[in-house]
Amino acid sequence: MQWKQINPNDLSSPDMHKLLIGSVVPRPIAWVSSMDRAGVGNLAPFSFFNVVCAKPPTISISITYHSQRDAGRKDTLRNIVELGEFVVNITTEATAAAMDQSAAEYPPHVDEFAEIGLTRAPSVRVRPARVAESPISLECTLLQTVPVGTGAGSATLVLGTVQFVHVREDIIDDRYRIDIHALQPIGRLAGLSYCYVRDLFDLKRTPYQP
Ligand SMILES: Cc1cc2nc3c(=O)[nH]c(=O)nc-3n(C[C@H](O)[C@H](O)[C@H](O)COP(=O)(O)O)c2cc1C
Repeated sequence: MQWKQINPNDLSSPDMHKLLIGSVVPRPIAWVSSMDRAGVGNLAPFSFFNVVCAKPPTISISITYHSQRDAGRKDTLRNIVELGEFVVNITTEATAAAMDQSAAEYPPHVDEFAEIGLTRAPSVRVRPARVAESPISLECTLLQTVPVGTGAGSATLVLGTVQFVHVREDIIDDRYRIDIHALQPIGRLAGLSYCYVRDLFDLKRTPYQP
């Protein structure tokens, strides 16, 4: 077997981006609602998203540099820093098309909720609304931003503390287990591709036997 050996220093940042997003798959999609100081809502998807830990309940999203925006900051990042609050809505098969629409470059004064025809549901602990069409929403406060690099290809890692959780009753049991078949999440791949989460298998943990 031959291996292609790649030194990141030899790649342009778009090629490195392509290599990473094709390799780290599938990625969950945070559909982030935020709000600016004037109260204008914003909604956009982010697949550089994961859980950090459970105590305190913490999630991460990474928001990449955008050369056409003020200080390179996308609206979501500017809003999260300004307000210190945001909501991560989980993206599903039913909301895939609306999620994709919300990734378009709407000007800052345009509220994607209204533009796309989504239902705004009030949050409990934070000011930005949650997406009623999402079966799970995580209300978050900003814990920390971590700048990673500068200019094109760089990003700001956002760590958020989960302050409140909304879960649609039909997808959770009384032991807090989520029914994956009812949730119907989608995953992000490279290019324009996504995947369903339908073909599951279990592995029995084998304990170490000295
Ligand atoms: C499925 C999907 C995943 C995305 N993931 C990210 C991501 O992880 N980080 C990022 O900065 N942009 C990501 N984007 C692009 C942003 O959604 C896009 O730049 C959006 O316009 C940002 O909106 P805003 O300026 O309102 O924050 C993704 C787009 C799609 C469709």
